[in-house]
Formats: sequence, structure tokens, C-alpha cells
Amino acid sequence: MSKGSKGSSKLMIIVWVLAMFFIGYKALNSSSTESSSDDIMIDSALLERIKPIGEVRIDSSIVVASSESSGKAARSGEKIYNANCISCHSSGVMGAPKYASLEDWAPRIDLGLEKLTLSAIAGKGGMPARGTCMDCSDNEIKLTVQYMLDSLK
Ligand code: HEC
Repeated sequence: MSKGSKGSSKLMIIVWVLAMFFIGYKALNSSSTESSSDDIMIDSALLERIKPIGEVRIDSSIVVASSESSGKAARSGEKIYNANCISCHSSGVMGAPKYASLEDWAPRIDLGLEKLTLSAIAGKGGMPARGTCMDCSDNEIKLTVQYMLDSLK
């Protein structure tokens, strides 16, 4: 055999392999759908429709993660107290009524939760507005005042 015929038989093998791949691919597709190319098109249309659902799921998981990290749900009074109020209200610095001290809170307790919350939001004397918790909602301040009042029981 000459070099030329060796080369062309190699080419024939490559063509044959490609053809077999092509036939095999077609056979696979038609055996799974058992019908015409229309059904194959429907399948790909279906796949296209399934794809966005997967993307939406990924998006919704991101939303869940970000809503957790941004803390949009109200934090507990205990959490806010420990983060923002404890520095003054555990030691009673500048005359701050101490946590769990009925003596300190006695003159204020009659104001009630609503009025105490309002003065905590506005600030009073040495107490800065919102007790330095600038990202606290009114409701979160209320929960925190409630937490402090609960310590007196
Ligand atoms: C920088 C110190 C400081 C921080 C921080 C602080 N407080 Fe106060 N707080 C005070 C002082 C001082 C007073 C007493 C004010 C007065 O009666 O003149 C006070 C008073 C209060 C009162 C009583 C208000 C009234 O009408 O008698 C409440 C309620 C209160 N604080 C809640 C909070 C809450 C809730 C936080 C945290 C979110 C907080 N405080 C953080 C210093 C602080």
C-alpha cells in the first residue's frame, strides 16, 4: 500500500466514525421520544421552559439569604439591648436607669411603655435619640423598652 491510500483509508475511518456518531445521536433522540423531529423541538422548548424555573429558584434563594443578612425582620429587644443600650443602662452612667433596678425605674414606670418608648426614640437628657441604635425601627425600640421593663418583674 502506498502512503496515499493509507491516508485516505484513515480519512474513511474518520468519516465513518463521524457518520456513526451522527446516526447514533439521531437514533438516541428518536428512541427516547419515539417520533418525529417535531417532538424533539417540543423537547427543547420544554427544556427552555424548565431552565428559567431553575434560575428563578436560584434568585429566590439569594433573596432569602439577603433578607436574612439585612435583618429586615424585627430583632428581639434582648438583642438590641445587648448591642446598643447595655453600655449605659447596665452601669447607670449619666443617671441612666439601670437594667433590673426597680429603684431606678420606679419614678418612670408610671409613664408606661408607650411614653417611655417615645422618649427613648426622641432621646432624653443624657440619652441620645434611639439610644444610639439609629437603624432601629420604632417597633424595635418598643420591644427593647419592653425587655428592660420585663427585667423589673
Ligand atoms: C449613651 C448612654 C445611653 C444609651 C446608649 C442608652 N440610654 Fe437610655 N437613658 C440614658 C440616660 C442617661 C437616661 C436618663 C435620661 C433622663 O431621665 O434624663 C436614659 C433613659 C432611658 C429611658 C427612660 C426614659 C424616660 O422617659 O424616663 C428609656 C426607656 C431608655 N433610656 C431606653 C433606652 C434604650 C431602649 C436604649 C437602647 C436602644 C438606650 N436607652 C440606650 C442613657 C442611655
